[in-house]
Amino acid sequence: MKGIILAGGAGSRMWPATKVVSKQLIPVGLQPLIYYPICTLMLAGLREILVITTPAQGPLFRAQLEDGSQWGVRFTYAEQPDPGGLGQAFTIAEDAGFLGDGEGACLVLGDNIFDAAEFGRSLSTYQEIDGGLIFAYHVGLERASQFGVVEFDQETGRVRSVVEKPERPTSPFMVPGLYFFDGDCLEHARRATPSARGEVEITSVMQPYIEQGRLRVVPISRSEYWLDTGTETSIEDAWSHVGAKRRITNLRIGVPEEVAWRSGWLTDTDLLAVADENDPDGQNPYANYLRLLVQDGQTYRR
Ligand code: DAU
Repeated sequence: MKGIILAGGAGSRMWPATKVVSKQLIPVGLQPLIYYPICTLMLAGLREILVITTPAQGPLFRAQLEDGSQWGVRFTYAEQPDPGGLGQAFTIAEDAGFLGDGEGACLVLGDNIFDAAEFGRSLSTYQEIDGGLIFAYHVGLERASQFGVVEFDQETGRVRSVVEKPERPTSPFMVPGLYFFDGDCLEHARRATPSARGEVEITSVMQPYIEQGRLRVVPISRSEYWLDTGTETSIEDAWSHVGAKRRITNLRIGVPEEVAWRSGWLTDTDLLAVADENDPDGQNPYANYLRLLVQDGQTYRR
């Protein structure tokens, strides 16, 4: 299975912060937003990752993320000329020579933050999936209308419907921007036609799976967090959450070096080298966090 991260879009809801840089490069804490969904893919054990950006912003993403080898992964880059919908991710991946027929893919949206340890640990089990898998997060009926909304059978986890931004949601569960599909996804994406608003919707890629009874949903527990960053208020909430968590626990989320290190893709020496290269004086809190991981790891991990 391969990972795809969709980081295009106009970012108009976040103007003027997005006048010069894409929304996914705006920081939440010291990390650009895209670091968080990259960590989600890495937690799923995916090391081949396609980063889809607008044509104009491609060079900035490459400068920020490089080729991925610094985190033990490999990034390929592709461009989406216009924001024609989430469902285009798969055909863009095909055109880039990244995804072929029969290959499974995990799509994550470049602005979705998960702070969910149990959920994170479960992700690596979905690589060999048969059909499709999405997640459900409780946001309540009133808020659900801002998102894709899922109705499902609580017993079997089988999805009955996913409706994009319904006026009157019939379920309090929204669908976060993380989707696992088996090798049929490219075929489904090719067949998808643009919706009334002119976008190839992700729901169109899911629909054939739903009709075949092959789309499953896993609810994310109420003790775990999915954070929206689509509006001024929600990105403020994301900043507060990430900050409060760091102050209370001295743990950070969205640190690719940490995920790589915990996965055994980077060694203690690698981590210390990154810290020293970027912060020879020991003044930078992110670099100091990497140093602390190694120090604590030597005490507690082994
Ligand atoms: O965040 C979860 C929600 O994301 C889901 O519940 C919805 O079902 C899904 O459609 C999506 O809704 P949004 O309103 O958040 O979609 P938005 O248009 O804001 O796009 C999400 C991200 O994907 C954003 O960072 C921009 C990027 N994007 C979007 C489109 C439409 C692209 O890169 N290309 C695109 O064509």
